Amino acid sequence: MTVADIISEESSGTGRPTPILEARHLTKHFLARGGKKRGDAKGPKVVHAADDVSLSLYSGQITALVGESGSGKSTLARLLSQLYHVTSGEILFKGKPVKVRGGKAFRDYVSDVQLILQDPFGSFNPLLTIRQHLERAAKIHHPDKRGKDRTELIYDLLRQVNLNPPQQFADKFPHELSGGQLQRCSIARALAANPAVFLADEPVSSLDVSIRLGILNLLRRLTEERNVGLLYVTHDIASARYFAAETAVMYAGEIIESGPSEEVTQKAAHPYTQLLIASAPDPGRDPDEERVTDIGQPPSLIDPPTGCRFHPRCPQAMERCTTQVPPKFDLGADHWAKCWLYADDVQSPASDAQAARRPSSITNGKAITNGMAIVRGKGDLPASAS
Ligand SMILES: Nc1ncnc2c1ncn2[C@@H]1O[C@H](COP(=O)(O)OP(=O)(O)OP(=O)(O)O)[C@@H](O)[C@H]1O
Ligand code: SF4
Ligand SMILES: [Mg+2]
Repeated sequence: MTVADIISEESSGTGRPTPILEARHLTKHFLARGGKKRGDAKGPKVVHAADDVSLSLYSGQITALVGESGSGKSTLARLLSQLYHVTSGEILFKGKPVKVRGGKAFRDYVSDVQLILQDPFGSFNPLLTIRQHLERAAKIHHPDKRGKDRTELIYDLLRQVNLNPPQQFADKFPHELSGGQLQRCSIARALAANPAVFLADEPVSSLDVSIRLGILNLLRRLTEERNVGLLYVTHDIASARYFAAETAVMYAGEIIESGPSEEVTQKAAHPYTQLLIASAPDPGRDPDEERVTDIGQPPSLIDPPTGCRFHPRCPQAMERCTTQVPPKFDLGADHWAKCWLYADDVQSPASDAQAARRPSSITNGKAITNGMAIVRGKGDLPASAS
């Protein structure tokens, strides 16, 4: 921790350093196809891609953002990278609000906050060599370096991502490299900007399983060595446990649970997080525990469900879940969940049908509901709404 971190930690009074990048109550609504034509009393039809999302990234720390397809993960990453304008809410970089509309302010912000995308082949021009791509980045971010110095910088960037000897990779075209090697090149290009934050949107999901770990280990080393904050966007909650210090779980445009990764993955509180875990491939799973394969469908984000957005799929839904939005319930150790199960006045299920789907057996803190592993419920945790 630097002196500046200690000062800001003391001044913030939260016991934590100031986040390097922070989303505060971010909302992004896209106009739905044909949305303008509707013109009814509710106004234009919109996609609620992100609603009231708050998230903090810290220097030297990896934060995972997990959720199924369409839950709004990329939208949040793009909002944080300022590629999308926010509908409402605020983004703070080093504690100061930022709103860039283009020009130099945008270029400066992009130097500080670098986005790494899922498909490296899509982010390289197939007609240019790796050297030419890195030269372009070097000219933008290190205009003072020319000739030999620029070449040395390019080789150094390639060495940092373990592409050795760098001379061998620099003159290749993108199609001459494997997906893993090209993803390393895209990380090298991002490093040229000397960023304070990486936003890695599914950085390994397009890669062969055998090379994913190498890229994740590289990102972890760079996060630690360069003290950057890293947002790791993924479908894979199992990888979040091993890779990220903190994990936030997104469902239908909202973050519904967050906390230290060990807590969120080993003591998942929200039924949706429990469903993600129960459906994830996990070689370490107890052989008696069946993997859940039918996990249902995400809701429409044009007309999201009222109350808790997960209620149509939730085996533990109660009456109030259908109408009242659950607040954050503090579960201790920086862990929280938005779920009425943790209210002091927890209700009984909404109907007999739902009652039948409630946990029928609880053993060693795990309950099985129609094949879904429910890791814990009310009574295991201190609960207080915040
Ligand atoms: N430019 C856009 N215009 C309209 N709707 C959009 C736009 N971008 C995203 N959406 C919608 O917003 C919702 C969230 O999409 P997003 O890409 O953020 O999800 P995701 O969690 O990243 O999904 P995946 O895991 O498949 O990448 C989806 O319903 C998507 O169709
Ligand atoms: S608030 Fe209700 S519907 Fe939502 S996850 Fe909790 S129990 Fe299920
Ligand atoms: Mg995405």
